[in-house]
Amino acid sequence: MSRKLFIAGNWKMNTSAADAVALAEALVSSIGLVEAVDLAVCPPFVYLSPVGEALRGSKITLGAQDVFYEDKGAFTGEVSTDMLIDVGARYVIVGHSERRHVIGETDETINRKLRKALEGGLAPIFCVGELLEQREASETLEVVTRQVKIGLEGVSQADVTGVTIAYEPVWAIGTGLTATPDQAQEVHAMIRELLTGMYDRSVAEKVRIQYGGSVKPTNAAELLEAPDIDGALVGGASLKASDFAQIVKAGM
Ligand code: PGA
Repeated sequence: MSRKLFIAGNWKMNTSAADAVALAEALVSSIGLVEAVDLAVCPPFVYLSPVGEALRGSKITLGAQDVFYEDKGAFTGEVSTDMLIDVGARYVIVGHSERRHVIGETDETINRKLRKALEGGLAPIFCVGELLEQREASETLEVVTRQVKIGLEGVSQADVTGVTIAYEPVWAIGTGLTATPDQAQEVHAMIRELLTGMYDRSVAEKVRIQYGGSVKPTNAAELLEAPDIDGALVGGASLKASDFAQIVKAGM
């Protein structure tokens, strides 16, 4: 079964309004018409609207970096699914390791956000991944299994095919260390087996599993060749239009 690759840029807490629009414009002119690979960029909340404007007419989709699990009300600082849809976002990252380990989000919180995103019509990019000490203690599969199981609790067979899972080993994020294609493939295949058990084989074959963690123009092609790696979630290299474009071309 061949899944269309999906490559997304996570800009994290970077760019100014002018930088964000300039980056989006540069991407539109280099890879804006690419159809062979699904593409998205996830700017900071405050730049979603101008970036969405800059992407208009291109094939690059807008995504947000997080969402809250309530619809509205007294939740100072939070952003709802409706608000994100309103400004043109179609994807949302949930459970990024920086939300888990810097902000302190739990698997249960992430599950609530993921279900709310689906309910509101956003396609979640659901991140999982182990810490270095967990890998060194041979706990990778156990940790990722727990994250996937709790994160997807209550998500129906029909809905889960709209979820992208991003396997991002925490030790590879922003460090310049990348999982080897074999290391990544092992975890991706395990996630697909897990999905087969939780749902069934045909559902598991439809879910896209991105790899994330220091994906660069120099390593993208070999990672994207692995049978269960269905795309990439790119942080640092997504802030340079030429690097991101080269990663996308590696996937074509
Ligand atoms: P990186 O970040 O590509 O800078 O390692 C990936 C991510 O955090 O999604």
